[in-house]
Amino acid sequence: MSEALSNLLREDRRFPPPAELAAAANVTKETYAEADADRIAFWEEQARRLHWDREWDEALDWSKAPFAKWFVGGRINAAYNCLDRHVEAGNGDKVAYHWEGEPGDTRTLTYTDLLREVSRAANALIELGVRAGDRVAIYMPMIPETVVAMLACARLGAPHTVVFGGFSASALRDRIQDCDARIVITSDGGYRRGAPSALKPQVDQALTECPDVRNVLVVKRTDQDVEWTEGRDLWWHEAVDKQSDQHTAEFFDAEQPLYVMYTSGTTGKPKGILHTTGGYLTQVAWTHWAVFDVKPDDVYWTAADIGWVTGHSYIVYGPLANGVTSVMYEGTPDTPHRGRWWELIAKYGVSILYCAPTAIRTFMKWGEDIPAEFDLSSLRVLGSVGEPINPEAYVWYRTFIGSGRTPVVDTWWQTETGGIMITPLPGVADGKPGAAMTPLPGISAEVVDDAGNAVPNGAGGYLVLTEPWPAMLRTLWGDDQRYVDTYWSRFEGRYFAGDGAKKDDDGDIWLLGRVDDVMNVSGHRLSTTEIESALVSHPNVAEAAVVGATDPTTGQAVVAFVILRGSATESGEQAAKELRNHVAAEIGPIAKPRQILVVEELPKTRSGKIMRRLLRDVAENRELGDVTTLTDSSVMELIRTNLSTPG
Ligand code: WT7
Repeated sequence: MSEALSNLLREDRRFPPPAELAAAANVTKETYAEADADRIAFWEEQARRLHWDREWDEALDWSKAPFAKWFVGGRINAAYNCLDRHVEAGNGDKVAYHWEGEPGDTRTLTYTDLLREVSRAANALIELGVRAGDRVAIYMPMIPETVVAMLACARLGAPHTVVFGGFSASALRDRIQDCDARIVITSDGGYRRGAPSALKPQVDQALTECPDVRNVLVVKRTDQDVEWTEGRDLWWHEAVDKQSDQHTAEFFDAEQPLYVMYTSGTTGKPKGILHTTGGYLTQVAWTHWAVFDVKPDDVYWTAADIGWVTGHSYIVYGPLANGVTSVMYEGTPDTPHRGRWWELIAKYGVSILYCAPTAIRTFMKWGEDIPAEFDLSSLRVLGSVGEPINPEAYVWYRTFIGSGRTPVVDTWWQTETGGIMITPLPGVADGKPGAAMTPLPGISAEVVDDAGNAVPNGAGGYLVLTEPWPAMLRTLWGDDQRYVDTYWSRFEGRYFAGDGAKKDDDGDIWLLGRVDDVMNVSGHRLSTTEIESALVSHPNVAEAAVVGATDPTTGQAVVAFVILRGSATESGEQAAKELRNHVAAEIGPIAKPRQILVVEELPKTRSGKIMRRLLRDVAENRELGDVTTLTDSSVMELIRTNLSTPG
């Protein structure tokens, strides 16, 4: 490594904004003061960036806290704001998406094209009986129809629930059942790692237990053979293409549900995070504009999947609400070669890139010679999301992707927050590798100790949000009590994010990872309990404990300790292989344990709670922590000497 780079790795380095960017920045220091003076007025000003058919009577109703209503009485349509108003303003010819399929096929969609497609799809959904308030499940690869389907739902006031295409049939089934979706939109498959990967079979399997689903709309993408259920299944091109490309958007209450996105919690059952329309769109539109300093000529790329909240807010709703040109890519970064992302950046002149630290660490592993072969000079702002970015990865990103010139914004937020909450602003802050820095204007956060008192600078604790914000989740679908218990009970009157954090000597915030039984693998949230339940649902497993062990590439990796039943006859290696596949089938390939350790016993406290902390130490090969509360401290000796560690 060059000496210059080793110097950069010193964590006290600061990267001031480039003078040119700072001089023309969308947001300046003054904005913080302005928002501090009147937070609510600040958000009202941002809401006016959108088109409202009727303005709100009251900006925030917090009288039934923690159940918030923003922009009460306002009437708005998310799809109208993302499409029609740009076309009506004469910007219909602007490109909304440069889409690139993994095999290299491309599609360019202007705002006019997208509006026509969305109108057709909305008309098709109406024909299928979809009405405002009905839930529609979307299980798709990264193709333009995914965006079209979401916006068609939004147009009709029908909340969508997008299920990540990497999830299994059982995960899809659970989500369809939980929100009682009656229509599913899917495709035959999509391209991943150079080959078509099927989606329709998972839908067919899921629907054997979802009798209330009336219709499945199937986009033809890969031309794979599909099973067909007559009367239920319809080809998208047959149902949608024949429709009129005119549809008049209806305006809905600001609190009309926009979508439900499921995310892992600390118990087995995923939580349906409910987002509504006016506040959500206000915050994602403003944060997209402010955090990435988006200008009309920018070419913006969030390299994430639409099946996660990052895709919802920063591939679909934020960029479209701002009338920006985006890149959308279907496949993996190493197909057909490891320079694919950099090739796309050069080809489309991408000026803003937003991705996860796990991707950056993978590129680091592949080496800086690969991006060096491409012209990345169009880039001017880089973003990071999903997990803490280690200073090494931050500096590598800035140096080799950003040519040592671009600010890096480390953005902290969650599925629950809907939009970015804590981040440096590229034209304001001196970048500090590893720190998410400060709450955005209009956002109030604090780091508190066990008793809920703010910690002094230099100390650590729990991250809490102290005031409601426009894009906040409104509740958990069908479970108000769990919403209150999960987020609003740990610290009176404040939102508990589930993250550890510290304030440095300047008072800037550093995120330290989850403090609950939630793992973060490649920026994806996985629940230890959910994977444990999947493991014990296998007939050979008597007991299972799962921990997130530090991993150099994925941040954390799933490591499972299992006790096999006496009747199990296979070797440890066979058993582990079978169990990994079982977890993939139950939840999805992303949840597959990196390692399965077959053990005779698990360490437990006297009250019978599994001591995951000790297991994490084993998984990370650390010295063991304090074992005195164990029922039998020899258990750990047993684990260490008897574990078999097949791949
Ligand atoms: C959890 C939320 C935000 C969209 C993608 C993930 C972690 C997220 C950061 C960051 C440190 C981060 C937190 C958070 N996280 N961004 N910049 N620095 N940690 O959304 O699946 O809802 O996960 O991801 O632990 O609680 P999610």
